[in-house]
Amino acid sequence: MTKKKEQSTMRIGLLGLGTVGTGVVKLLRENSDIINMKTGLNLEIAKVLVRDAKRPRPGVPEDLPITDDVREILADPSIKIVVEVMGGVEPARAYMIDALKAGKTVVTANKDVVSQYGKDLYAAGDVGDAELYFEASVGGGIPVIRPLKESMSANRMQKVMGIVNGTTNYILTQMSQFGRPYEEALREAQALGFAEADPTNDVQGYDAGRKLAILASIAFMSRVTPDQVFTEGITRVTPKDIEYGRRFGWTIKLLAIGKEVDGQIEARVHPAFVPSSHPLASVHGSLNAIFTEGDPVGETMFLGRGAGAGPTASAVVGDLISAALSKRTPGRRAGDACTCLFEKKVVDMGQVSAKYYLRLTSEDKPGVLAHITMAFGAEGVSIAQMVQGTGGDVATDDGKGELVLVTHTVKEAQMQRVVKRLNGIPEVLSVDNVIRVEA
Ligand code: NAP
Ligand code: HSE
Repeated sequence: MTKKKEQSTMRIGLLGLGTVGTGVVKLLRENSDIINMKTGLNLEIAKVLVRDAKRPRPGVPEDLPITDDVREILADPSIKIVVEVMGGVEPARAYMIDALKAGKTVVTANKDVVSQYGKDLYAAGDVGDAELYFEASVGGGIPVIRPLKESMSANRMQKVMGIVNGTTNYILTQMSQFGRPYEEALREAQALGFAEADPTNDVQGYDAGRKLAILASIAFMSRVTPDQVFTEGITRVTPKDIEYGRRFGWTIKLLAIGKEVDGQIEARVHPAFVPSSHPLASVHGSLNAIFTEGDPVGETMFLGRGAGAGPTASAVVGDLISAALSKRTPGRRAGDACTCLFEKKVVDMGQVSAKYYLRLTSEDKPGVLAHITMAFGAEGVSIAQMVQGTGGDVATDDGKGELVLVTHTVKEAQMQRVVKRLNGIPEVLSVDNVIRVEA
């Protein structure tokens, strides 16, 4: 016979009723029975904060108590847990700090605030039984924060790497697999609810940079902030680069890479070619995937929907359940402790090693190739592969030639110097793109 679960009601304040907020409301209503069966919890939404409480909200239950006055949540002692899904830095940061200082536990999906102000949030919550949960801030519906903080806490982590932005993965998949234009794919990602309010954060890599800062901080036990993450977005990736990559047997992805090498941290986000046989190459659409490597666990991979209402609500409500169970049994504080106990150096991007793909346009005349290869040689950069022209044609009709060179592994600083040298060669008309290649 199963033991009857202790029954308790927990009143929740919800900040935000957009894509994620409505997903949370729907999930709590539709699955309240299984949540109760598993935990004995009745999670009751006491109040929902929006910007404009008078705006009609089709599809939102009519009995949902909506307000545009945050004090109705923050000053209500019966509300024990605040779920922040408003997005942006302010006023979300201030509301979370106020809630934590008032002893309320905060559950948030906000990587902008957690990555930049994690330290302040932990400090504010260091009173009573206030806790901080942020599973949905990285990887949408994929459980990765708690596994890192709890299940794998006995490990020394060496690597966290993956695809952590659904919008850009969706765009690159559409461009690569269906030849869809960039703008069209971006509009679709926005319509599907994957993109941030300002999609610049997605396509310029800032969203992935913030997520990597969170992952690296937890994995390497040292606070990494977004300004320490080298960040390059996908806006310079062209169909031509994708096509060349295909000829080399590669697929392009926006990768977030965090490593600890000799006590120092490498943290970077940029487009990268990966072999098409690599497990990350088959992570398509809005899917996210995060690889971790730790001692003694070895390699672990987390895969799932990285954005969208349902997956994100799943992570938020998962946190909410943990938070409510913890409130019901004070002192439990599961997985809540800040573990940034070291101050490790984040290495300069110039010292990072990779292979490089470089595409350039030059005048098509004798001797040009020698000048180009000399620029590589002068910086000690060895060329592994070279291709002229997209379709195998050596030159275009207008007397210009296109050349793609792939290097062996070199330091980023060496490659930057090669680009400088190439730009100084009169016959080189433009260095069109440089993309890192991750084996
Ligand atoms: P959203 O659709 O833009 O919704 C934001 C909600 O917050 C709206 O209901 C808005 O009110 C409310 N809001 C914003 N600023 C406010 C303010 N100053 N005062 C009161 N209410 C305010 O955003 P979202 O896509 O749900 O994202 C929310 C958070 O989840 C963000 O931190 C995002 O990064 C994160 N996240 C999103 C996803 C995703 O797939 N969308 C996935 C993972 C994490 P109105 O309705 O009145 O405008
Ligand atoms: N804009 C984000 C993405 C939402 O596309 O991955 C999830 O954080």
